[in-house]
Amino acid sequence: MNPPNVLNVFKGPDALVQFFDPDRSPPLPLVELPDALNPLRRDGVRIFAKMLTQLPAQNVKSLPALRMLRNERDAHRQKIVEASSGSTVLSLGMISRALWDHEDVHAFVTNKKHPDSLKLLRFFGLNVNLYGGLAQQEPYDPKGIMSRLKETAERDPGVCYPGQYHNDHNWKSHEQWTGAQIWKQLPEITVFCSTIGTGGCAVGTGTYLKSRNPSVKVIGVCNVFGDPTPGPRHFPNFESSPFPWRETIDAFEDVSSVDSYRTSMKLSRYGIIAGPSSGEALHGLLAYLQRMKADGRLPELADPSTGEVSCAFICADLPYQYMDMYYKKLADEEFPPIQNENLLHCDQDAYDERWFLQPNEAASHLLSHNSMLTNAFCSVPSPCLCKWQSSSPVSTSSSVSSVISDSSSSNSVESSPSIFSVPECSTSKSFTFPEITVLDLRPRDIYAASHLCGSRNVPLPPAQKDFFGDARALEQRWAEMKEAVEREDWIWADGRSILVLCADGDSGRMATAMLRAKGCEAMCVEGGYPAMFEYLDGYER
Ligand SMILES: Cc1ncc(COP(=O)(O)O)c(C=O)c1O
Repeated sequence: MNPPNVLNVFKGPDALVQFFDPDRSPPLPLVELPDALNPLRRDGVRIFAKMLTQLPAQNVKSLPALRMLRNERDAHRQKIVEASSGSTVLSLGMISRALWDHEDVHAFVTNKKHPDSLKLLRFFGLNVNLYGGLAQQEPYDPKGIMSRLKETAERDPGVCYPGQYHNDHNWKSHEQWTGAQIWKQLPEITVFCSTIGTGGCAVGTGTYLKSRNPSVKVIGVCNVFGDPTPGPRHFPNFESSPFPWRETIDAFEDVSSVDSYRTSMKLSRYGIIAGPSSGEALHGLLAYLQRMKADGRLPELADPSTGEVSCAFICADLPYQYMDMYYKKLADEEFPPIQNENLLHCDQDAYDERWFLQPNEAASHLLSHNSMLTNAFCSVPSPCLCKWQSSSPVSTSSSVSSVISDSSSSNSVESSPSIFSVPECSTSKSFTFPEITVLDLRPRDIYAASHLCGSRNVPLPPAQKDFFGDARALEQRWAEMKEAVEREDWIWADGRSILVLCADGDSGRMATAMLRAKGCEAMCVEGGYPAMFEYLDGYER
């Protein structure tokens, strides 16, 4: 008998072995459902969720896998094979590592499995072996995958096939742990319910509970034939099970996949986080209880000491790996709508803060790309980026814009000396940015009034202020930006770096993301042109 581990700490070289050992942890939670999830509460029915999801492997198969492996003498040096694409093989993989640091575990999986499930198995380090044909096979079909694995293991001493469908340690693990825990936690229990895959959980837990109180009813819930929910099976596939189910399971219910998914989503929303098969168990339990109620037989299920019907059902795994299916099975209206949904169709390029430069960083970046400028100001460590302002000798802004927004012209300041003369420049040398295009997105007249020498203007209409806070304005800005970037393909065609300036920094961020997605090395200046101007102006004074 191990001492109680009230603080839930697992220490030392065998910490993982302890962690996976249910006898070293407090019992798993048994949580009563709120009235919102229990339509029969007023009829004296109390329903409790047994959270096998809180086992170390976070699924119902953590217990059978542990007991099956513990009872395989040579498994730690054998190739372990199992026909499972989910809970069982995931648990076997984790536990064989935890017990023995043994990695040679192989999942035999239908080739009809969703690619995400295969990714999950490989994430957990399992070797995936696909088989074709029927996805969910009958365990005793002589041509089925399970018979083939059994034969292989019988022939080859290097192979261990736990065989969850015929291995008694499967159901006995639930007798040993799940049943014993529930009995301790809820001695007034009168109804127990589990879905049926191998039947291990229903048979094992039911066997223990009936051994303590033979009048406990055990309900097994199966998939509707042809409408699978992952984990459980349909009844015809289970009927040949060698487990002692006939003396344990009192009634069977079939539940559709849609009801299973919907019910588990409801449970999850209240914090009983559980996957589809757990919803299937609860839905099946409620169907059974409703029928008993309709037949006037609910009182038969009441515990004499409490006068209530106390039920427990199994939460077998978590919902996350099935997320895609929730959205396929259930109607869109069952999920809260997304606000600003239009943003899913625009502005999808990645933003990265490393591309957003402070003005001083942008200035030194320009310097580092301009050896001429460095030479010209070699005694000055900071940039001397001359700015041309409205005070310069220009007659009209339209004549300015006709030159400076001409995308086919060179971006050298020398190309139009009368307009790009730099009155404040302290050197007679003009400057160019040979490897970097400075792109200014402000409207033409604003650009004409003041801009960085050598910059090029791709004028966008004025944007709504703070458009990132207004989904419609953002979408509009994105459309304007996309149109401009696609029209002015010279921007990215020549492989130069790009530094984007705009009115306040916001459009610059968006343009940078868009240009980066096109493969350019784009950056922008935080605060846009005004921030750049302020920095350089301050520097010059
Ligand atoms: C998610 C899930 N729920 C329920 C079950 C059924 O459990 P059992 O095989 O004990 O009947 C399984 C079996 O693999 C499962 O993976």
